Amino acid sequence: MSHMSLENVTMKFGPFRALTDVSFHIDRGEILGVAGPNGAGKSTLMNVCTGGLRASEGKVIFDGKTITPFSRHVRCGLGIAQTFQVPTLLSSLTVGENLLAGALFGREARGAPPGISLDEILSLTKLGDLLEMEAARADLLTRKRIMLGAALATGPEMIFMDEPLGGLNAEEIADFLDVVRHVRDTLGITVVMVEHKTRALAEIADRILIINFGEFVMLDTPEIVLNDDHVVEIYLGKKHDA
Ligand SMILES: Nc1ncnc2c1ncn2[C@@H]1O[C@H](COP(=O)(O)OP(=O)(O)OP(=O)(O)O)[C@@H](O)[C@H]1O
Ligand SMILES: [Mg+2]
Repeated sequence: MSHMSLENVTMKFGPFRALTDVSFHIDRGEILGVAGPNGAGKSTLMNVCTGGLRASEGKVIFDGKTITPFSRHVRCGLGIAQTFQVPTLLSSLTVGENLLAGALFGREARGAPPGISLDEILSLTKLGDLLEMEAARADLLTRKRIMLGAALATGPEMIFMDEPLGGLNAEEIADFLDVVRHVRDTLGITVVMVEHKTRALAEIADRILIINFGEFVMLDTPEIVLNDDHVVEIYLGKKHDA
């Protein structure tokens, strides 16, 4: 069953269309990869789903309900969480306070039972020994872990991750992909992950969505998508090299 659907979504910034007439379904419990060249509209697409942006036209449907006009805060309460391309933290607070803030803004704020225990979040993110540390002092990988922990602390049903692997080495990427698998397999959370690293996406995603110039190109299994001539051309940028 579809967990979220976009119906004919267009996102305009003044006269510029960052997304044009995009429609697709996200299945409950899947790991959906999203890829496309720089500036294709991937972050815009995430924000339209999570409430950072309101679609100019079209509908966003979550669990059968139209959520298009809702703010990020309201969508977070419904169970939609996001991590960002550039880690955003409450820098002057401790790691533990960042996780607590996630819990406060999430489902608990609406009286829903917490979805994930703090122990589980700490074991997944390996933040157990760092709870008292000021978040501003964290290195990149730790900042990413804090952001993921805070997003999980909201008790989400869906989590959107914007280029979570940027700046990580091969070992860190493998570790992170294990965490993502756990989030989906054990916690049952639907995962949508924007990522440039198509090899990592192929490894983890059930399906991959390709967008280019704000338009839907293709949505299918990694094998089909990454072997598609048009997709390969978009990635190799043949037109630009010629
Ligand atoms: N707030 C905004 N105002 C005006 N234009 C914007 C805004 N946000 C994004 N854009 C434009 O929309 C297009 C899509 O941007 P977006 O950040 O969604 O791309 P992306 O696929 O995430 O790129 P990247 O791979 O570099 O992260 C770009 O041309 C960008 O300049
Ligand atoms: Mg982006």
